[in-house]
Amino acid sequence: MSTAFLNNAYMPITEAKISPLDRGFLFGDGIYEVIPAYNGRLLGFDAHIQRMQEGLKGIGLSIDWTTADWKALCTKLSFENGNGNLGIYLQVSRGTDSKRYHAFPEAVTPTIFGFTFDIPQAPIANKTKAKTYSVSTSKDLRWQRCHIKSTALLGNVLHFQEGYEKGSDETLLFNSKSELTEASACNAFIVKNGIVITPPLDNQLLPGITRNMLIDILRKDGTIEVQERIVSMNEVYEADEIWITSSTKEIGAVTSIDGQSVGDGEVGNTWLAAQTLFSRHKYDY
Ligand code: PDD
Repeated sequence: MSTAFLNNAYMPITEAKISPLDRGFLFGDGIYEVIPAYNGRLLGFDAHIQRMQEGLKGIGLSIDWTTADWKALCTKLSFENGNGNLGIYLQVSRGTDSKRYHAFPEAVTPTIFGFTFDIPQAPIANKTKAKTYSVSTSKDLRWQRCHIKSTALLGNVLHFQEGYEKGSDETLLFNSKSELTEASACNAFIVKNGIVITPPLDNQLLPGITRNMLIDILRKDGTIEVQERIVSMNEVYEADEIWITSSTKEIGAVTSIDGQSVGDGEVGNTWLAAQTLFSRHKYDY
């Protein structure tokens, strides 16, 4: 039985209960984070908490938790749940009102929830052992505030489901100009002629912590060029490699897009170099 945290108390997850009038339930009015932890070691912790705090600010929700408070919560949740390979899920919703009314309620206490779920072992930089992913593509029909890690994920869920029903692991999304934004639950990268390219940060995509760590690690190493720029649909189809990144996947090598091979259909050499560097440096963050 996993241990969860809800409003200042730890309890078995089955005993964690919230009111149906919670605005997280009624409106998806909240912010969440997923922080990976391996044997109690948190990855990118400060950056995850900073993004959550920016998200909370972005939706006008203030709570008095410090980074140290979040660290204590994450450490305890990891410990209570066996310090294995865990995704630590944190969520703050605007809280439980006495009625359903769109405007922000006054004097309502935010609901703070945390639990953990098992994630796969971190990928190792080995081409033959790498998990590979297939993706399909779709027009990005989500909202225009995708930089906010909102709990209102129906747009993402519908896109993920679209791919899932076609037998894909993820759905790559393109805006109305046929430019790559991201995937339904990952950021997206392409590799062409040894150059790693990913869309620039704006309101069309989440500022992924894995994305940012990977770019930083590659730039500090300096052997692989990284470009943050608009990526057209044609470039995606003609890429030598496609990667999807997220906290629970690290760098996922995509070998098939809409049923066609990516490059030669094998895990690429640039993936190997990037995952090698990522595995070496990820705990620096
Ligand atoms: N998903 N883009 C979207 C839409 C995401 O939902 C995620 C993460 C990412 C990657 O962000 P990061 O590297 O910070 O994990 C990009 C999480 C893991 C989820 O919803 O489960």
